[in-house]
Order: sequence, then structure tokens, then C-alpha cells
Amino acid sequence: MDDDEKLPNAHNIASQDNEDDIEHKIVRMNVPYAQPGHGIVGTYFIGYARHFTVTQRMLNNMFSQSDRLLDFSTPITGSAFFIPSRRLLERIAEGDYFPEA
Ligand code: HEM
Repeated sequence: MDDDEKLPNAHNIASQDNEDDIEHKIVRMNVPYAQPGHGIVGTYFIGYARHFTVTQRMLNNMFSQSDRLLDFSTPITGSAFFIPSRRLLERIAEGDYFPEA
């Protein structure tokens, strides 16, 4: 379906980050898990982005626009991690990122 055929709160419409009329993308992964004996099912969602603001805007959009995904799933928790680039790690190892240390 084209985007204009979907409901405005369809997940892949509501979550879009179109700041400054540019559709900003993130790399997305879902890892399902289950403990069937305990009635537990779910998925870990992981979003990789150069700038956390993109992911944050997507999350804000999902909650403020009643993303349809939230009718079927319950967010439990979340975390943000910083992954340094290879170049930054090299600079830290070379001692020129924290020169006072
Ligand atoms: C359990 C949680 C989630 C599930 C199961 C899920 C699943 C999906 C699915 C099936 C699509 C459609 C993919 C396609 O059309 O090929 C999608 C699209 C998308 N999701 Fe999620 N999602 C989840 C959470 C999130 C979260 C938390 C974010 C934002 C932080 C997010 C951002 C997006 C975006 C931006 C798209 C559109 C991608 C594009 O069209 O380029 N999703 N998601």
C-alpha cells in the first residue's frame, strides 16, 4: 500500500520522523522472545541511529498519535546506549580525546 492509502495511525506512518520535510531513517531490529510455559511473549525492539533525537521523535510520534501498534503491544521498558565510533575509540586510545586524563 502507498503511504497515503494507510490510516494516519498505522505504525509505519505514525512513527515516521519527517522533521524539516526529510524522512529520517533508523536501522531497526526486532528480537522476539517467549516463555510459553509462563504465558510470556514479546519482542525486543532495537533502533540504531546516528542521532538519538531521530529515535526520540519517532517515539514521541508513536505515543502522541496513538500508534496502532500500541493497541496490540505494551511497552515495558527502554534504554539508550552510546556506541562510540572506531575513530573516537582510536582517539581515546591515542590519548588525544581526554588530554587532561
Ligand atoms: C515491538 C515493537 C515494534 C514492532 C513489532 C515494529 C514493527 C514494524 C513493522 C512490521 C514495520 C513495517 C516494516 C515494513 O513496512 O517493511 C515497522 C516500520 C517502522 N517502524 Fe517499527 N516496530 C516496533 C517498534 C518501533 C519503534 C519503537 C520505533 C521507533 C523508535 C519504530 C519505528 C519504525 C519506523 C520509522 C518504521 C517505518 C520504516 C520505513 O518505512 O522506512 N518501530 N515497524
